[in-house]
Amino acid sequence: MPHKIIQRAAARHLPKLIAELKRKEQSPFMRTMQSETGASVMLEDQRVLMFGSNNYLGLAADSRVLHAANRGIHEFGSATTGSRLLNGSVRLHVDIEERIAQWYGAPAALAFTSGYTANVGTISALMSRRDTVVVDAYAHASIIDGVRLSGARLLWFDHNSVDSLRTVLAEAKEGSGDVLVIVDGLYSMEGSLSPLADIVDLCKQNGAAIMVDEAHSLGIYGENRRGWAEECGVLDDVDVLMGSLSKGLGSTGGFIVGPEELMVALRGSARSFIFSTSATPSSVAAANEAIRITMSDEGKVLAANVQESSRTLAALLGERGVKVESNTNGQWSPILPVLIGSEARTIATWNEILRGGAYVGVAMHPAVPRDRALLRVCVSAAHSPDDLAKVADVIRNALDATADL
Ligand SMILES: Cc1ncc(COP(=O)(O)O)c(C=O)c1O
Repeated sequence: MPHKIIQRAAARHLPKLIAELKRKEQSPFMRTMQSETGASVMLEDQRVLMFGSNNYLGLAADSRVLHAANRGIHEFGSATTGSRLLNGSVRLHVDIEERIAQWYGAPAALAFTSGYTANVGTISALMSRRDTVVVDAYAHASIIDGVRLSGARLLWFDHNSVDSLRTVLAEAKEGSGDVLVIVDGLYSMEGSLSPLADIVDLCKQNGAAIMVDEAHSLGIYGENRRGWAEECGVLDDVDVLMGSLSKGLGSTGGFIVGPEELMVALRGSARSFIFSTSATPSSVAAANEAIRITMSDEGKVLAANVQESSRTLAALLGERGVKVESNTNGQWSPILPVLIGSEARTIATWNEILRGGAYVGVAMHPAVPRDRALLRVCVSAAHSPDDLAKVADVIRNALDATADL
């Protein structure tokens, strides 16, 4: 019999649900992909349209990115077997940091093994018990985990509400330490976009620092595809900018970009940077090539393609009476959330969609609030107009098939 601490953890709602659905062969979780991810994917023995990945620019299967990964592995091996601080910094890490700094016109950048470790390491290195961190109610789990590790006081404001942030900042300023506000550019589950210009203004008025997580917005927004802060014209006002290489950039990794003093602080105190093996040569080399493409005129075309496809799919769903819930103020988003509410109907609808020949994401608590389970439909530059029309029909039919639930 496993120890009671193991039994207790396995009996929690989500672990139990995942295990039960697997037993019933109805699980949307951890399904096995048998091929690279593009417009479609082999899911077990079925080829399905892929509308549930973060492969926004379609670079995860780009031959130039794959060749770069190959060159990386042949030149530097399968792993670095050390942390960045000791033997784990190879030329590829230096190259990508130089490229990211050049992309942003910033003095320096620091590469992490993932976006998750970039957030956790950075927030916990910068903030301490005396300080307060104010985060949007829908902020990513890696932000919350970073705050928890730092020991700082954590205050929430209502999702995307500038009024709520104003109230919470007044409370935050009563504490003895410094205040950091953290928001996502593009929220990963709900597809909403942060009212960043107003948030930056409010931070300035209140003497608070601002950190922006560009994990999902990187590569698709802004004149130079540097993310939502660039699109909003506030890039120079952001104190700490974090990006992920694991989504639009088609690799795995994360980074922080900004002033040299920030990197000095992180190199010496971000625990996820110091105490974990550095990113593999293949993933860093792939990401570097993906950034090169994203920075080029071709990147501009890819970003425009995702935008057009996303607007087309939103319209096709609308024509079929499927409501897309994102809070984007007329802006486009590659993430089209179809809010269902109950977990049971969300899972049933997901299974119908799979039977219809498409894969979409599922978001349930704790990724979204308890009563807001949703289907997360994600568009990629790799999709064709036919793919968009087909998935719109599949989603409509699946919702009809589960209307009684
Ligand atoms: C908003 C946000 N930040 C950070 C991360 C973590 O990035 P990575 O997947 O590179 O670890 C994610 C990934 O899901 C995310 O959605």
